[in-house]
Amino acid sequence: MFLKKWLCVLSVAAGVGAAPVQLITNGDFENDSTEWNFKVQGSAAGTRSIELSDRSNAGKCAVATVTTTGSDYFQAQLVQVGFPMKSTTSYTISFWAKADAVKSLQLALQETLGYKGTYKTVNLSSSWQYFEYTGQTRPQSHDTVKIQLAFSVGKFTGKFYIDDVKIVDENKTVTVIPDDWYSKADERIAANRKGDFIVSIKKNGVAVPSCSVKVDLKKGEFLWGTCLRLTTATDDNEKKYRDTAAKYFNYGVFENAFKWSEVERTQNTPNYTEVNRHLAWTDSMGWDMRGHTLVWGRTKDNHGMPSWAQQLRGNDLIAACSTRVVREMTKYKGKLKEYDVVNEPLHERWLDSTLGGDKSIYSKIFKWAKATDPTAELYINEFNILEWTEKDAYLSVVDKIIKAGGPIDGIGIQGHLTQQFTWKSIAQNIQTVADYGLPIKITENDINMNGASDDSLAKMYSTVMRVAFSHPSVKSFVFWGFWEQRHWRPAAALFKSDWTKRPAADSVYNLIHNVWSTHLATTTNNSGVVAFNGFNGTYTFSVKDGNEWKTITSPVVLSGKGNKTLSIDIGTMTVGVNGISPRTVSSSVIAGTYNDNIVVYGSNGRVAAKLNKTSGAYLTITRGGSANLTGTHLSNGTYFAKTIHNGKSIMLPVVIVK
Ligand code: XIL
Repeated sequence: MFLKKWLCVLSVAAGVGAAPVQLITNGDFENDSTEWNFKVQGSAAGTRSIELSDRSNAGKCAVATVTTTGSDYFQAQLVQVGFPMKSTTSYTISFWAKADAVKSLQLALQETLGYKGTYKTVNLSSSWQYFEYTGQTRPQSHDTVKIQLAFSVGKFTGKFYIDDVKIVDENKTVTVIPDDWYSKADERIAANRKGDFIVSIKKNGVAVPSCSVKVDLKKGEFLWGTCLRLTTATDDNEKKYRDTAAKYFNYGVFENAFKWSEVERTQNTPNYTEVNRHLAWTDSMGWDMRGHTLVWGRTKDNHGMPSWAQQLRGNDLIAACSTRVVREMTKYKGKLKEYDVVNEPLHERWLDSTLGGDKSIYSKIFKWAKATDPTAELYINEFNILEWTEKDAYLSVVDKIIKAGGPIDGIGIQGHLTQQFTWKSIAQNIQTVADYGLPIKITENDINMNGASDDSLAKMYSTVMRVAFSHPSVKSFVFWGFWEQRHWRPAAALFKSDWTKRPAADSVYNLIHNVWSTHLATTTNNSGVVAFNGFNGTYTFSVKDGNEWKTITSPVVLSGKGNKTLSIDIGTMTVGVNGISPRTVSSSVIAGTYNDNIVVYGSNGRVAAKLNKTSGAYLTITRGGSANLTGTHLSNGTYFAKTIHNGKSIMLPVVIVK
């Protein structure tokens, strides 16, 4: 039996704004016989036609006419061309049917190869009836099988009428992206990425009317990144590469340097030279880096499992994975704040298969990672999610890991695109992943489309960026390189080998730094106030005091979700947020009473430290001393400690002077 059980269900309720995933098209035959065949075998004879249905508002329906019976139902079949069905997943099949008299057909769900399947006898009368069945496919050795749905009518002569055939995946409903979704991108961006902010300018406590103020977003909350392949060269290309990265992006990921096979070419002799060289530069730029990738089950080239690890089996292999995760995450604790903990679980299966294929290695890896650095964000990462149809398989791996106790914090979607796409297909794929409920990052976008002109490449990049930026679940967007000479798919690069720009370079820059950024020069009103709508993120402010421009060096993090009002005193050169005044700390300790997770931003707008909520703890940040924030040494300077108090996000400006 292909289906374990069949149950009649009364109705399938879909949530508001959500619709079940429909697995076949033209089940209503409005597109005539597209995707449907009629097969006769043995002694059976008959025809299939598409006719207007006599059911009200039903349009067309399929009619199978059997003139000579076969030895069994299957000898005459109205058969759908096939669709993928996953094992251990529940589906509902529904349709309308009638016959010219009381007689039966057989509903068959059969594998396209071998015709193994499940068969259900359906009794028809001469009036239309609605049939609905829910069943679960039997667990297969493989995850997905191609299934054909057939109405087998060979046992009786006469006419069989079929209409509105639907198959839905019951395990999941997806929010359907409406047709006007893309045209409403700016509305979503305004709602999710921006805020109305109010700044009062004072001098020694007194409001300063009609004074010039410059407002600049230094780093948006939504990060735009690139993978990096820095070299030791000191030539013009290296300089240009770094300058371009710095000009365009504010976030990064190691292209290869952090991969296991790069770090540990010889077992137990890790070499961090390349990782550290990358970090030295990104630190100097104030960038955060993604730790890509702790474990990648790939064996094909020199970038996945180290060759020595490919010789290991069983517990030795598990131990090697554990060593890798714990060692690197201990070493880079506080420095790397997020990881692609497991890369490509769908495609690079060597590790899992070698360990028995039950995917338990993945949940173990996530558990080790969380135990080693509880503040790091733990991502899983995969391709063929923005295009092709592997998102369901991906989500089922994610779900399996999580159900086995593996703490996944976010879902990485690589986004290497090679197929023609529409904004809608990209948006729907992101939405389907978002419906799982975890944050999403686009981790490796590039567009490598055969024959695409440079102009259409620019258009495609901006479409994907707009879809991602306007989708509330997406937290950041990373390009997989930008220069042809250091790009695994050179035709996708923004810059050609000689550094001439493809049109995409300017449009990418314009979106990130102009359209989706905030820069304004304005004047305070009579009460010394400036009000503006801007992107969430870290700002710098310059205020004209007489003839002198005074720039606030303190990082000011504004967010439409919480930090909306700001006061700047150009006499004391201090900043208060949401009515909270800054405090200056002359010892090495900042103490507060906010019993929650705390993030400390440094003057470059970058997260300087994170403190996880510990029961009964209060905010204690030390500079070098022993305290809750072990291992974090904050130097003199201005910081913003961000936490949640009574359900409200608050920023505590802090100045450390020792
Ligand atoms: C690629 C690099 O870009 C190449 O330089 C290297 O030869 C192979 O790996 N998905 C991933 C990345 O997760 O690590 C891959 O990077 C590209 C596909």
